[in-house]
Amino acid sequence: MDTTATPLDLANPIATLPPSFRWGVATSAYQIEGAVDEGGRTRSIWDTFCEVPDAVDKGDTGEVACDHYHRMPQDVALIRDLGVDLYRFSVAWPRVQPRGRGPVNPEGIGFYDRLTDELLANGVEPWVTLYHWDLPQELEDAGGWPERDTAYRFADYSMMVFDALQDRIKTWTTLNEPWCSAMLGYAYGAHAPGRRDFAASMRAVHHLLLGHGLATQRMREASDGRHEFGITLNMGVSTPQTDSAADRDAARRSDALGTRIYLDPLVHGRYPADLVDDLARRGVTLPVQDGDLEVISTPLDVLGVNYYFSETVSGVDEDGNNTDPDGLPVTRVIPTGRPITAMGWEIVPEGFTQLLVRLHNDYGLPIFVTENGSAFDDVPDETGFVDDEDRVAYFDSHIGAVALARQQGADIRGYFAWSLMDNFEWAYGYDKRFGIVRVDYDTQERTPKRSAHWYRDTIRSLRA
Ligand code: FCB
Repeated sequence: MDTTATPLDLANPIATLPPSFRWGVATSAYQIEGAVDEGGRTRSIWDTFCEVPDAVDKGDTGEVACDHYHRMPQDVALIRDLGVDLYRFSVAWPRVQPRGRGPVNPEGIGFYDRLTDELLANGVEPWVTLYHWDLPQELEDAGGWPERDTAYRFADYSMMVFDALQDRIKTWTTLNEPWCSAMLGYAYGAHAPGRRDFAASMRAVHHLLLGHGLATQRMREASDGRHEFGITLNMGVSTPQTDSAADRDAARRSDALGTRIYLDPLVHGRYPADLVDDLARRGVTLPVQDGDLEVISTPLDVLGVNYYFSETVSGVDEDGNNTDPDGLPVTRVIPTGRPITAMGWEIVPEGFTQLLVRLHNDYGLPIFVTENGSAFDDVPDETGFVDDEDRVAYFDSHIGAVALARQQGADIRGYFAWSLMDNFEWAYGYDKRFGIVRVDYDTQERTPKRSAHWYRDTIRSLRA
């Protein structure tokens, strides 16, 4: 691509975003709703995981979370006051289809029906994510995502939600971050269901993608053509620490397992050959059956990109070895000395630009940034207000990075800040705060932080 023709506007990139660019805030069901035993909801793998000693920091759980289930209208008013166009939320499978099989639960879908109406009445467009990690526990008991049947269950559940809300919701995304479901959930044991089995995690990858494809095909068949379908992936850039063959191979492997394992089948209908070779060396195969890749590569209208950080990697450990004690090639993340967030993630806005331009060049899909944001150790004043200049700087540099990628030709149509409000940050519990609105968990009081004001003013200035 010729990037020299139009010089990049580096001074104030955000100002180059057009008035048609769309803005939103994002949340997910288990992180905010609470009310885990209400309205016929059954348990999800996260309810179970939270009971495992030491699985979640301080033993926190999603039992109450932000109590959004009971405070939904006030929360929608908060969203409206931000002046955003879109709200991305996820639907809790165990509310809508308790136990993951059988008929729709009217009370469960009723909550999302009311949420949808409330958003529309407040001039905010709903954007739905069908799966943000809260698998019904019964489906995990039957084997979870490593089992092929889970993909079919997901498609059935997706159709229930689609039937109920398709008349009012245009954009339908299937999965949030299948990398986290598969790797954190089944390989590393850091997320629910807490399994540590690499081969199972690779089966989970394939069945998550199959579930996405089956659900997308069925929703598209039932659609009158007014809808858009997509998926959200979390990605970053892996840069080799040096030009050595070992470091370059570490970066290749991390790109294969982080990005290409999803996007190659989704867009090109095949798994990357180098990944399949790497897996074969570990005695692992992806459980692909005839016709699966055709289903998985059913056309997408939108790619959701979640970006938080990028990494520099080395293929050599501290002692100079290329393989670990299990004989596997070393992939070691190397701290570069850049500033970090409270998560310990390096702040790399230029990696965001690089990622978005690369996704555009390699996969050519319209992109929405479905999550981007940061956790910092917020200090509220006596009124609950947080002067979060660090978070404002993060948003400023990363939205600027999006604008620079657009200037280089990437087709990016919108941006969602993660997150509307502080919430249950999975294995980190409530200590890590990503919200632009502070939540006082003792009183459930919500107080917009400086970043919320900044976000509202930025959006407003681009429309003026
Ligand atoms: C993403 C998740 C989201 C939130 C952010 C910080 O991986 O999709 O739920 O936890 O990270």
